[in-house]
Amino acid sequence: MEDFLASTYPWTKFLHVISVISWMAGLFYLPRLFVYHVEVVERGTATDSLFQTMERRLLRGIMNPAMIATWVFGLALVFTPGIVDWTMVWPWAKAGAVLGMTWFHHWLGLRRKAFMAGQNRLTGRRYRMMNEVPTLLMIVIVASVIVKF
Ligand code: HEM
Repeated sequence: MEDFLASTYPWTKFLHVISVISWMAGLFYLPRLFVYHVEVVERGTATDSLFQTMERRLLRGIMNPAMIATWVFGLALVFTPGIVDWTMVWPWAKAGAVLGMTWFHHWLGLRRKAFMAGQNRLTGRRYRMMNEVPTLLMIVIVASVIVKF
């Protein structure tokens, strides 16, 4: 198994980065949709159901598969021999930030369900603030894998 992972390493990393880009695009865009959904759209209108459709498709069609692929290829990299040195700080920093990113994804899923039920209580300002969470986590993650402190 380790030999197989070592031989496929560049392709695994390629697939990991492609998945990461797709996941991040959704993590940045879905809270923006929520901002407009709260601030511009009236409940029960055709635009309301259009936004719900866009949010559902983004989450189910792109973000969920991209998150799963990021985890699968990321864990394959973790088990590739000689890639992660757990005595260093960066793998732990990355692991913490990646867990935070996964939490954020699930939080967005819960917010989407609240919109669907007509029970969103959060303001556009709150969604704008939450939009910064994936940015901060991304900075930690990319610094971890590139600088390897
Ligand atoms: C979901 C769980 C994740 C796991 C288990 C994971 C694990 C890994 C591992 C072990 C590597 C190999 C590092 C190396 O080759 O030296 C890697 C590379 C990389 N990861 Fe992740 N990762 C995850 C999520 C993410 C996320 C969310 C991002 C971006 C926000 C990300 C960005 C990257 C990048 C850019 C690289 C390539 C770094 C390079 O070697 O140039 N990863 N990941």
